[in-house]
Amino acid sequence: MRVLGIESTAHTFGVGVFDSTADAMLANPKAFYKSPAGQGIVPIVAAEHHREHAQEIIRQALEQSKSSWQDIDAISYAAGPGLGPCLQIGASSAAFLAGLHHKPLIPVHHGPAHIEAARWQSGFDDPLVLYVSGGNTQILTGTKKGKIYGPPFTVLGETLDIGIGNLFDAFARELGLEFAHGSVVAKMAMVGKNYHELPYTVKGMNFAFSGLLTYASKRVGKIEANDLCYSLMETAFAELCEASERALLMTNKEEVVVCGGVAQNTVLMDKMKAMAGLHNAKCSTCENQYNADNGGMIALLGAREMERKGKEAAILPEKMWYEQKWRIDQIV
Ligand code: FE2
Repeated sequence: MRVLGIESTAHTFGVGVFDSTADAMLANPKAFYKSPAGQGIVPIVAAEHHREHAQEIIRQALEQSKSSWQDIDAISYAAGPGLGPCLQIGASSAAFLAGLHHKPLIPVHHGPAHIEAARWQSGFDDPLVLYVSGGNTQILTGTKKGKIYGPPFTVLGETLDIGIGNLFDAFARELGLEFAHGSVVAKMAMVGKNYHELPYTVKGMNFAFSGLLTYASKRVGKIEANDLCYSLMETAFAELCEASERALLMTNKEEVVVCGGVAQNTVLMDKMKAMAGLHNAKCSTCENQYNADNGGMIALLGAREMERKGKEAAILPEKMWYEQKWRIDQIV
């Protein structure tokens, strides 16, 4: 089965083509909306970017995968969670194409798409998951049925306020940095050497970052910037490791996958691997192209949903829907 998947939940419009028979990702082009320096994403402006780039990225995905519309068996799209105006562009594009070419239309959740991409590339079977992105930071497990690892997902722990990616974005704006926020803060953190104690909040397997953000923001100009980035990142990652370790011991899992945009951070991965190693568990992630938002993971999950639910995975194009606040533990 060959599935074309469309991602548009936030700043990325991506289109992937996954072939489940060959177990291969055939294409994964994307266009990325960059907000102006010092500003967050404006949903309506990001959606305009997606509308402008949709045709070109879809064309690139078909060309790179050497697919005609006859070769595509189904079309999946990220139906949430995300920014309403952005979701609408991807959902409408997918519904239009499914109607025009008479293909099954499969709405999927963005979170399990990241998880499945990491599981696919790591070769892990039944892992504990640390999902770390801009708006989402959760420790969770899925349900293994045969080859499928899917819902119901159980959220064991999560952020009590902001996502860890948003922590880095917001702090980068405090420093007046350009977009690419998280990665710039990470680069500065690599240069920093002196740790300054910052607020650390872990409650069981939950954690919080807004107190850390407020405190660190007030230290801008008073503590050397690289040292402040280093202290912020060390504190936030330590929170994730402590909560994940508790979840690992509770679940007795032997595998841990880390996925989502912040899983591109090698410092976090080194810490998580060291933590897992203490308990004889393996820890892995996927390539950066799948941890950043992308259409490939949406195509991959579309194929898995067809395996899991058969025809019931698909909806009629005129019944297209999206949900801005769709929680991962509400997926059926
Ligand atoms: Fe994401």
